[in-house]
Amino acid sequence: MESQMRDVPRRRARGRTRLLLGGVCAAVIAVASVAMTTLAHADLSGPPGSTLKAAAERSGRYFGAAMGGDRLSDSGFLTIANREFDMMTAVNEMKPDATEPNSGQFTFSSGDAIYNWATQHGMRVRGHTLAWHAQQPRFWANLSGSSLRAAMIEHINGVMAHYKGKLAYWDVVNEAFAENGSRRSSNLQSTGNDWIEVAFRTARAADPSVKLCYNDYNIENWTYAKTQGVYNMIRDFKSRGVPIDCVGLQTHFTGGSSLPSNFQTTLSSFGALGVDVALTEADVTNASTSQYGGLTQACMSVPRCVGITTWGIRDSDSWRGSENPLLFDRNSSPKPAYTSVLNALNAASTTVPGSSTSPSSPPVSSPPVSSPPASSPPVSSPPPSSPPVTGQPGTCTAAFRMVNTWGGGYQGEVTVANGGSTALNGWTVRLTLAGGQTIANVWNGVNTGTSGTVSVRNADYNGTLGPNATTTFGFLVNGSTNTAPGSFSCTSP
Ligand code: G3I
Repeated sequence: MESQMRDVPRRRARGRTRLLLGGVCAAVIAVASVAMTTLAHADLSGPPGSTLKAAAERSGRYFGAAMGGDRLSDSGFLTIANREFDMMTAVNEMKPDATEPNSGQFTFSSGDAIYNWATQHGMRVRGHTLAWHAQQPRFWANLSGSSLRAAMIEHINGVMAHYKGKLAYWDVVNEAFAENGSRRSSNLQSTGNDWIEVAFRTARAADPSVKLCYNDYNIENWTYAKTQGVYNMIRDFKSRGVPIDCVGLQTHFTGGSSLPSNFQTTLSSFGALGVDVALTEADVTNASTSQYGGLTQACMSVPRCVGITTWGIRDSDSWRGSENPLLFDRNSSPKPAYTSVLNALNAASTTVPGSSTSPSSPPVSSPPVSSPPASSPPVSSPPPSSPPVTGQPGTCTAAFRMVNTWGGGYQGEVTVANGGSTALNGWTVRLTLAGGQTIANVWNGVNTGTSGTVSVRNADYNGTLGPNATTTFGFLVNGSTNTAPGSFSCTSP
């Protein structure tokens, strides 16, 4: 059977994608704030769990839900959340528009309220989300190119500094692919195709303790173009050392028949890339017992599938409320789908790697070769900028600014300016790093070399500078010192 995929409201009228039926899935662990979290000690020989979280924890997995801030005063919701779930996602409260309403002005009270309630009730928290085409701060609408790129980086740094060491996962980038498997058009995509990897590298530097995820919908069917697009991106990231730890499949199933028969293949294929897999926003039209059971079973059969989250708890919590897609009805009673999920959790055939041995495995996978430094300071307290280093006289100049420093490196920014009376068509900045330093990442520019004397030329979109115009590029440096680079020069063809 086939059916249309579930879309978020704005895309409901267009992407009429068809998917096959079939499949399965499931979860990880939990305990208080992640800094103190220990993995559940998986034991498939133990008695079956009588709650979703207990059943998931048997195999070292979690069972999560999403909640809005308004649910904090809903005792019916809180009672079920506390009893059944061990992972929590904020529906809207940690999104970019909520956390940075104005440039550089961060506000965390709504997100913190959910975080505090969840961790006080023994749950871990999934951060959602840092960079997305929707629910952006209003001021992003006035930005483009390098200034939007810089705003995204500042946003990631600002939010992740606040939650540093506290979250289990971050959806670093959400919904960046189109249905045909290419990148979705968006203002972020227009800043350059490397925006996603810049987001992940920035995120790793900002909080090395949290798992960094890419999250999307309609990537459940293995043969679907969008699934392949995301898969190829993650494979590329892993091959080049771009830090990524997990992929979230939103798992919005609609039409009563949209669980693809190859769902387990999708999960295991992603897992084979060396990333955790999670079902992050599950809901199913009319809560089909076969689909809920199937998606759970698929996850339980794939070791790297670490957990399942439903987007709400009761049908009355759902963004698709008229379709009654969740595991509890409006009277807080578990539905037949609840039983099919519970049974599938208890029938898990695999455990999450590491969960059946040491109970204290950290939640972070080993960073790749070029991963950023082990720690970075919060963006709210950057060190003073070093004196600008000005480039050679001429129409093209380069001025350096130290943005952040930490024990093992720094984040720098170079402003390239056209001091002449005619336009520059392309620029190249040369700079010399101190001994032992290596560039881990460059954005808004393309580097040649990573140590010693390095040249950075313009990206495709910021090479043309009119008279008196400026642009910036940024970079991360790893090294035992945070000495600023020297010997700057800027040339233009
Ligand atoms: O808070 C305002 C309220 O003041 C105003 O009166 C009202 C008028 O429309 O809007 C309210 O904001 C709404 C917000 O939810 C809070 O309820 C927004 O309009 C509405 O667009 C927003 O919808 C959220 C949606 O993301 C936005 O894309 C949903 O709650 C949220 O469940 C949904 O979550 C997404 C995931 O992040 C990504 N995957 C798909 C998923 C479902 O769409």
